[in-house]
Amino acid sequence: MDASVIAKLMRLNQAFTPGAPVNNADLFAGRLTQMHRIFTATGQRGFHVVLFGERGVGKTSLANVASRTFQQHGQIVARVTCDAGDTFTSVWRKALREITFNSQRTPAGFANPSEHLTTPLSEYLPAVANPDDVRRLLEAAARERPVIVVLDEFDRIQDRQSATLISDTIKALSDYGVNATVLIIGVADSVEQLIEGHQSIERALVQIPMPRMSSDEIRQILDKGSQVLGINFNIQAQERIIELAQGVPFVAHLLGLHSSDAALRAGSEVVNAGYVRLGIEASLDQWHESIKRDYYAATKSHQPGNIYREVLLACALAELDELGCFTPVAVREPLSQILNRDIDIANFAQHLKAFCEPDRGPVFVRDGQHRRWRYRFVSPLMRPYVVMRGYVDGLRADGSSEEERQERSGKLDL
Ligand SMILES: Nc1ncnc2c1ncn2[C@@H]1O[C@H](COP(=O)(O)OP(=O)(O)O)[C@@H](O)[C@H]1O
Ligand SMILES: [Mg+2]
Repeated sequence: MDASVIAKLMRLNQAFTPGAPVNNADLFAGRLTQMHRIFTATGQRGFHVVLFGERGVGKTSLANVASRTFQQHGQIVARVTCDAGDTFTSVWRKALREITFNSQRTPAGFANPSEHLTTPLSEYLPAVANPDDVRRLLEAAARERPVIVVLDEFDRIQDRQSATLISDTIKALSDYGVNATVLIIGVADSVEQLIEGHQSIERALVQIPMPRMSSDEIRQILDKGSQVLGINFNIQAQERIIELAQGVPFVAHLLGLHSSDAALRAGSEVVNAGYVRLGIEASLDQWHESIKRDYYAATKSHQPGNIYREVLLACALAELDELGCFTPVAVREPLSQILNRDIDIANFAQHLKAFCEPDRGPVFVRDGQHRRWRYRFVSPLMRPYVVMRGYVDGLRADGSSEEERQERSGKLDL
């Protein structure tokens, strides 16, 4: 293996980072609309921001890159990752620890020079704080420079009363026109789900939903990663990764990483669909453990000839409506292809029902009414996992493309 390939292999983990949010503007892809909305909202006094969406869509990465920009523009940024045990006071203690207050002290004695003191604001917070304590401290800090407080993983705070007090704090900051912006980030379908007492602060909140990435944004992740590495993804490889990632940047990083790895190990600087195929297997190994466990629980059965895996795969391949849901009708065709015979809804209705129950997950949430049920995958990471497992386990015998058949029969030049 030549030295340039070895150097590239060593840079892989800088180019693709499935395990960590992006921290560096050079690797940050797309998201211009959301970034613009954050900057507009924080520029206006009295407004605060809620950024919400599915797990793994890139909320923390967006906040990281936005925070850097704020700091470069001289603003004070305090960042907190909330956890299950947090209370109102502990959240603000963490945030205010990152903001310092400068003062001067002249010691007794004529000849002694005065000392500069830098104290974290958290030192001024009472043992049990209330919204007004926080408002006053932030007001003092924001006199010099605008302050941004990022509260990430807000959905993890369990104590409802603490969450309500945080809403009260936002209201107080807004009412007093304090030059500080709170940016709340969390996993949720809506602001109502994320923020306790949101009605009282609705007018002060700018809501930014974080959608899945577009195909273009996923392509940018591959472009940026391949630039760092000095390799190329050919068109087929790009299309395959875009299709499999389903708008989830985590999956794009994982496949980007493992397919480049496969290509480089084979001495190639061009990643083609064959290397993506090899990358899929390695990606499945590195998938979140919880999803692997859920897949096993959803598809386990002692009955020979059971079709849980096949039905789940057909659901993952079914066409989605604009809300990300599928209907049993949409499952019929992919399942007929997978099983290579005509299938009726009655053949898999029980399976769909079982996937909505705790014993097998639940993998789906069900919406609508009898005979008009619509289903949605609970986790955004399950659907791509199921599709890739389908490839690797050879379940998609007839659903595969000509290229894949050639690949399997060894005709495609890797
Ligand atoms: N804009 C982006 N450009 C490139 N990679 C991204 C982007 N947003 C997210 N990612 C990648 O996607 C994965 C999940 O991102 P993260 O910010 O942790 O999501 P969330 O906070 O929504 O759970 C990480 O691997 C991260 O590197
Ligand atoms: Mg996050």
